[in-house]
Amino acid sequence: MEKKYASMKSIASYVPKNCVANEDFEKIIDTSDEWITKRTGIKTRYFADNNEASSELGVKAANLAISRAGMKPDDIDLVICATLSPDYLGMPSNACLISSRLGIENKPAFDITAACSGFIYLLSLAKSFIESNTYNNILIVGTEKISSILDFSDRSTCVLFGDGAGAAVISATNNENERIIDVNISANGKYNDFLMTPRCLGSNLNFSNEFYVSQIDATQNYIKMRGNETFKIAVKTLANDVKEILIRNNINIDDVTYFIPHQANLRIINAVGDIIGIDASKVVVTVNKYGNTSAASIPMAIDDICKEGRLKKGDLLLLDAFGGGLTWGSSLLYFNGE
Ligand code: ACO
Repeated sequence: MEKKYASMKSIASYVPKNCVANEDFEKIIDTSDEWITKRTGIKTRYFADNNEASSELGVKAANLAISRAGMKPDDIDLVICATLSPDYLGMPSNACLISSRLGIENKPAFDITAACSGFIYLLSLAKSFIESNTYNNILIVGTEKISSILDFSDRSTCVLFGDGAGAAVISATNNENERIIDVNISANGKYNDFLMTPRCLGSNLNFSNEFYVSQIDATQNYIKMRGNETFKIAVKTLANDVKEILIRNNINIDDVTYFIPHQANLRIINAVGDIIGIDASKVVVTVNKYGNTSAASIPMAIDDICKEGRLKKGDLLLLDAFGGGLTWGSSLLYFNGE
C-alpha cells in the first residue's frame, strides 16, 4: 500500500468588520498609540459584533476553506476547533456548533484548548488521524472572540488582542511533496499562571461557598497575563522550537519559503527571527493589523499571504506558536492549496 500523508489542501480566514485603532484606546484607558506601537507593533485589531460569537466567525472561515478545497461540507470526515473563547464554557463544543451551521451531520466534532498554540495542536491531530488511516478530510478551525474575555480597564492586556478566525482542510495525499512534513507540540503546566482566565466560571470555584457565589459575575472571565515573564520565555521557546524541528528534519532555514510565527508581539517575532537567522523578507507579520488573535493567528497569517498572491502551492512553510498553558508547537509543511 502506498504511504498516506496529510496535506494542507486549503486555507481561509474571516476578519470581523469593526476596526479598533490604538487611538480608540486612548479615550478609555491611560495609554497611547506611541506606547502600543513601540512595545507591541500593533496598530489596529478587529472586534466582532456583540451578537457574533466565536463559532459564527469560525463558520465563515470554514465555509471558505471547504469551497477552496473544492469540496462540499459532506466530504468532511471530522471537525476540530481550537479556541479559548468558545460560545459556551461547557457544552456544546464550538466544533459541534460549526458542524451544524455547515450542515455536517453524523461526523465527529470536538474542541481543544491550547490557547495560542491551538492551530499547531490541530495540525498534529489532523496529521495523526490521516496517517493512521482513520479519516481522509479534516476541517480544522481556530476561532476567537477574545474581546469577550478582555478587561477593558487593564491596559496591559486589552490593547493586545483581537477577534478573528482561520480554517484549513487537511486531506490525505500520496504525494510526499504535498505533505505536512512534521508537527512538534509540547507544554509545561508549571507555568500555568503566566496566562490565565482566573475568574472564568470553572470548577475550581467553590460554588457551595457563599463567598464565591456572591463574587460570581459572568462578565469577569478576563484574561490576566504576566506579560514581561511570558515575553522572555516566549522568545526562548519559539526559537528553540524552530531549531529542533529543522534539525530533526534535516532542513536548512534558507530552504523555508515563509516563517509564520504566532502573532503576539512584533518584538517577539523580530527577536526570534534574528536568533534563527531567517531573512526578514520571509517572516510573515500581521500583528500590526489584527493584534493577537490566539488560535486564529497562524491560519489568518497564512491566508493573508494567500490573499496577497504571495503563497504558492509547494511553498515550504515553517509555523511556530506559543501560548497559555504554557503550550507551544511548530510545524513544517508544503502548502498544497491553489
Ligand atoms: N499603555 C501604556 N503603558 C503600559 C501599557 C499600555 N497599554 N501596558 C503596560 N504599560 C506599562 C506598565 O504599567 C509598566 O509601567 P510601570 O513601569 O510604571 O510599572 C510599563 O508599561 C512596562 O510594562 P511591562 O509589562 O514590563 O512591558 P513590556 O515591555 O513587557 O510589554 C507586553 C508588555 C506587550 C504585554 C509584553 O510583555 C508581551 O508582549 N508579552 C508576551 C505576550 C505573549 O507572548 N503572550 C503569549 C501568547 S498569548 C495567549 O496564549 C493567549
